[in-house]
Amino acid sequence: MSVRLEETTDWPALYAIYAAAFGQLAEADLVRHMHDDGDLILSVTAYTDEPVGHIAYSKLSLHETSAIKACVLAPLAVCPLFQKQGIGAALVRHSLKRLTETGHDLVVVLGEPHYYGRFGFTSRLAERLKTPYDGPYLQALALSDQGKDAHGSVSYARAFAELK
Ligand SMILES: CC(C)(COP(=O)(O)OP(=O)(O)OC[C@H]1O[C@@H](n2cnc3c(N)ncnc32)[C@H](O)[C@@H]1OP(=O)(O)O)[C@@H](O)C(=O)NCCC(=O)NCCS
Repeated sequence: MSVRLEETTDWPALYAIYAAAFGQLAEADLVRHMHDDGDLILSVTAYTDEPVGHIAYSKLSLHETSAIKACVLAPLAVCPLFQKQGIGAALVRHSLKRLTETGHDLVVVLGEPHYYGRFGFTSRLAERLKTPYDGPYLQALALSDQGKDAHGSVSYARAFAELK
């Protein structure tokens, strides 16, 4: 299994992965909308002979601490046949390294603390943000010291408002 930047030719397979993993197409459509809006900042595919997993990040604007370069991890999916083999973790770790290298300070995710906690995400850091998704499933990870100072209201990419 390898991990690399998403390529346009991955798209049919990515739609199939999201449909199988979530039982719906809303998440694949979210990625497509973020791409079309120019809000996708990182899109990474895991593949064997063909794509088996995908992760995407979009820009997050912090209103009170706008110097902090922040993003949202969403969505993430691994084809059910390939789950529990470390592919999700490889996608998260590879992409977080890349985001750190490109000067990002903060990543926010809405998901299972049992899963995202292993990468260092905490709800404690996210509690200082004011988002449409506040609650125990909202978690954040600082990639720099500056990221630890994040607080206040945020704006997600426009495509999130269209999610049902
Ligand atoms: C979540 C997901 C991406 C993990 O991918 P993966 O390749 O199976 O993950 P890994 O092999 O790296 O890690 C497996 C671990 O994740 C846990 N896990 C998988 N899905 C989980 C979930 N929805 N909630 C909590 N834990 C989950 C497994 O129980 C396992 O835990 P363990 O290491 O303590 O045994 C994958 O299960 C998936 O696509 N699920 C459906 C879509 C989804 O829920 N995406 C996340 C949205 S935030």
